[in-house]
Amino acid sequence: MNPKQNSKPLIVALDYPALDDALALADRLDPQACRVKIGKELFTRAGPQAVSTLVARGFEVFLDLKFHDIPNTVAGACRAAADLGCWMLNVHAGGGRAMMEAAVAALDGAPGRPLLIAVTVLTSLDDAALGEVGVGGGVAGQVERLAALTRASGLDGVVCSPLEIAPLRARLGDAFALVTPGVRPAGASVDDQIRIATPGSAMAAGASFLVVGRPVPRAADPAAAVAAINDECRKAASA
Ligand code: C5P
Repeated sequence: MNPKQNSKPLIVALDYPALDDALALADRLDPQACRVKIGKELFTRAGPQAVSTLVARGFEVFLDLKFHDIPNTVAGACRAAADLGCWMLNVHAGGGRAMMEAAVAALDGAPGRPLLIAVTVLTSLDDAALGEVGVGGGVAGQVERLAALTRASGLDGVVCSPLEIAPLRARLGDAFALVTPGVRPAGASVDDQIRIATPGSAMAAGASFLVVGRPVPRAADPAAAVAAINDECRKAASA
């Protein structure tokens, strides 16, 4: 997805253990200015109601549950996620081509078909950790291999670290969505992220969507933090 054509690249991660806390932040955000992400913790505690409540409030929801199972099971999970009205969902590319193709087929014809993306290699894994699970050759090669398999399987994009944006964009073209966490506005606390980029540099490298968590709720004015990130993205896209 060409970043220059994306007018709403920011996805705010609602990383909370309770729906009330997530809704308190959402109340301070404008669904026209950003999308939101629901991950495993909030979904496991609050369930489908977390998605439906945010959708009812006008937010486009990225349901970040990273499905990884046999094709039939993942297909059913994807159909269930689409029925909840989410805008984007994801699977692990390591589940293989048949699993990813089953996920694509399950979403075919779903009303308001969500975007389907894949996680390649978790950014918490380094070359040594990958080697321990039997994958030699390092992270970079495995990311490229799984991203190419994701595109060949008919998915819409991948999650990638800031360092991976430029090589994946060059290799996979403009139609493929690159969704990038590890984004920090200049001067913001890095927290536990290791490989980070600013919103502007991630967009300039070719990111389609940026996932930003803690810097938004931590700001005194979360809506102003979102506006500042959007401003930086717009400038980078028009440069
Ligand atoms: O608070 P922060 O901006 O670091 O949050 C980033 C969000 O992106 C979190 O929801 C985290 O789980 C998610 N994420 C990540 N790195 C990945 C994949 C997802 O930080 N490789």
